[in-house]
Amino acid sequence: MLKKWIPLVSIVLIACQSQPKIENIEEVAIIPQPTSLTLGDGYFVINDKTELLLLGEVSEISPVVRYFNSVLEGSSGFALSVDNTTENEIQENSILLELKAGNKKSEAYTLNVTDKGIAIKAESASGLFYGIQSLKQLMPTQLSAGTVQKDIPVVIPAVSIIDEPRFGWRGYMLDVSRHFFGVEDVKRVLDFMAEMKLNRFHWHLADDQGWRIEIKNYPKLTSVGAWRMDYNVTDESISNWWGRPVQQPGETPTYGGFYTQKEIKEIVAYAKALFIEVVPEIDMPGHSQATIAAYPEISCTGGPFYVATGGVYKDNTYCPGKEVTFKFVRDVLGEVMDLFPFNYIHIGGDECNKLSWKKDPDCQRRIKDEGLLDEHELQSYFIKRVEDIVNARGKDMIGWDEILEGGLAPNATVMSWRGEKGGIAAARAGHDVIMTPNKYCYLDLKQGHDDLEPNLGYSYSFLKDAYEYKIISDSLTQEQGRHVLGVQGNLWTESIGDWGKLTYMTFPRLYAIAENGWTAEKSKNWMGFTRRLLPQFRRLDAEGERYATSAFNVWIEHEGNNGGIDISMKTEVEGLDIYYTLDGSIPTMNSNKYESTFPIDKTTVIKATTFLDGVQIGNISEMSFPVHKAYGAQVVYNSPTSKQKSTAGVSALVDLNYAKLNAGDPAWQGINGDVELDVVFDTLTEIEKFKMTTLRMTISGIYLPENVEVYGSKDGKSFTKLGETEQILASHTQGRNKVTTEVSFPKTIVKAMRIKAKSVNPIPEGHHRAGSASRISIDELVVY
Ligand code: ACM
Repeated sequence: MLKKWIPLVSIVLIACQSQPKIENIEEVAIIPQPTSLTLGDGYFVINDKTELLLLGEVSEISPVVRYFNSVLEGSSGFALSVDNTTENEIQENSILLELKAGNKKSEAYTLNVTDKGIAIKAESASGLFYGIQSLKQLMPTQLSAGTVQKDIPVVIPAVSIIDEPRFGWRGYMLDVSRHFFGVEDVKRVLDFMAEMKLNRFHWHLADDQGWRIEIKNYPKLTSVGAWRMDYNVTDESISNWWGRPVQQPGETPTYGGFYTQKEIKEIVAYAKALFIEVVPEIDMPGHSQATIAAYPEISCTGGPFYVATGGVYKDNTYCPGKEVTFKFVRDVLGEVMDLFPFNYIHIGGDECNKLSWKKDPDCQRRIKDEGLLDEHELQSYFIKRVEDIVNARGKDMIGWDEILEGGLAPNATVMSWRGEKGGIAAARAGHDVIMTPNKYCYLDLKQGHDDLEPNLGYSYSFLKDAYEYKIISDSLTQEQGRHVLGVQGNLWTESIGDWGKLTYMTFPRLYAIAENGWTAEKSKNWMGFTRRLLPQFRRLDAEGERYATSAFNVWIEHEGNNGGIDISMKTEVEGLDIYYTLDGSIPTMNSNKYESTFPIDKTTVIKATTFLDGVQIGNISEMSFPVHKAYGAQVVYNSPTSKQKSTAGVSALVDLNYAKLNAGDPAWQGINGDVELDVVFDTLTEIEKFKMTTLRMTISGIYLPENVEVYGSKDGKSFTKLGETEQILASHTQGRNKVTTEVSFPKTIVKAMRIKAKSVNPIPEGHHRAGSASRISIDELVVY
């Protein structure tokens, strides 16, 4: 971790005698990287005598002044006196904020720091605000502690910055449906957005698992729709969102929350002061289980429905066949549009399951009456009517890229998430688009090694992916490219049940997205970005925020080889030194330095971490690799004999290759139903322990075995039981992780072992794949 980090290029200065000793001029490391940045000589110290001098329309500059003074008061304990000026040059011990005549929409600014003072100039208040944000990043990182640091002088290195954003839409989406985050948390989100010069907060307010905004005309949306059965799991080692039981009749839901209209206004105003526009999303016509739980009359079947507890739901849509549905949409969006002054309203439109539409007479009548081809065109019909409602209020509608299916609504802006295809198609058709393809912009995806990350994400989106994503596809013409409004990071919160998880998944990938959205392509530099992250990490440390060092952590790989295991290591960020140990001790720079792949020939715990210029950067990556007696033994399936699903064959069960927490890892041997197999040794072998790691991926019907029995045989023919482990409760628990089952017994000499693993059969009601036999996925039969 970076707690003990000392600034990389810390400039140690003994200032003139009248000044305090200046030890920590911050290294100049601004994210997003400015368009042009020139280092000057010396530094300026902001103190309680420094004056803020305003030039230009004071009423417009005032919010920026208030913001800056509150930052200073909170970090240094003083605010600056404010005066007007007619001078556009830096005056002694002053900070000039000059609002120039010009383009009010421009977010550009210049920032000059000399040993005399500071000048920030812009044509809009937002430009001045972004100048202040850059200034904040020049301050000592210790001032981010959140409490007054009277002993830390506010030293600002001399620089000259000219800066402007590449894109006008630089967003962050927070899903508050899957997990609810209260007003104070949302304000903290807005604070960190402002620091990254992000300007669009996309607030995902309604989904299957909760409706989160008070609507006066439809009170059940919050009295019913905001609450679900509480199956929240805080344990990061087991991720069970997709395996939660559904609510049963008679149960009282207790997890949830919502924002009152007063709170919504408070947050919108808070955002406005940070030059952030808020885009509300009310997801429809799919993802609406919570909505139809409250008002089943707008569904096809009429319910009853319960707010989803987790997972993925199918019969969760509005009914576009009924007029009452459109009245509901008009009324609800009417109240929403009253609350959000920004001209964009997001109406979702994604992943609409149309099964109930196929069976519903109203939907089928609508298809016939309107001359629609199918349910896709019915969705398009629905979205176009919603767009009419939005446009009638002078607002613009955004939808996820599924709104392209069945024909795009005439004025819609498309948010491209299933890759770039939807965004590209929409831009070619002359529609505005916001790019947020999941591989590059989904902050709920895993950002590191499967076995070394908290068990929060699925699939992957790495820091470098986020940084290097090309927002305007080469396949667009210049004219089409102008329809790309910008980029956005999205945090879906299925696995994100608390603030620490939110920040862990957000930082540092949102810095990468922010830089990608702001900085001109020619000024971007991945290596430079990774080094500029380090002071940001120190700020996050000072603030006590959790963040991921995954890109700086050691990624440990292995490969079974001739009875031993070859170990290799790498990091996503280049230029770090890797040190490791094989004896369980904490790695230091006196440990082994990793140069290239090396073999181990016995069971080993590997610990590794990274250093940069002598300072530890990464977390400690720890993995254990068994080298065991069954390596290379003959494995024979007794049952099932035909249904085993193994890509590498049975010998893969004893090849010293261990599977990651990733169902696609070829080291997993997936077997349907009960397993019985024999392990036949070359010679008589003394054994005392059996271990088997199995995958739990219950959404795919992969459960832990209920029971594992181990038998031994001296002649390979008659077997006696050596031991067993029963784990009914664990085997019926749904989720996604890896679990090791161990069976120990007195030392015995055998020629062969027989392993019996009992599947869950049938998988009980309320579980994924209920009614069938589970699959058991094993990576290795480990014998000691
Ligand atoms: C989405 O991720 N379903 C927009």
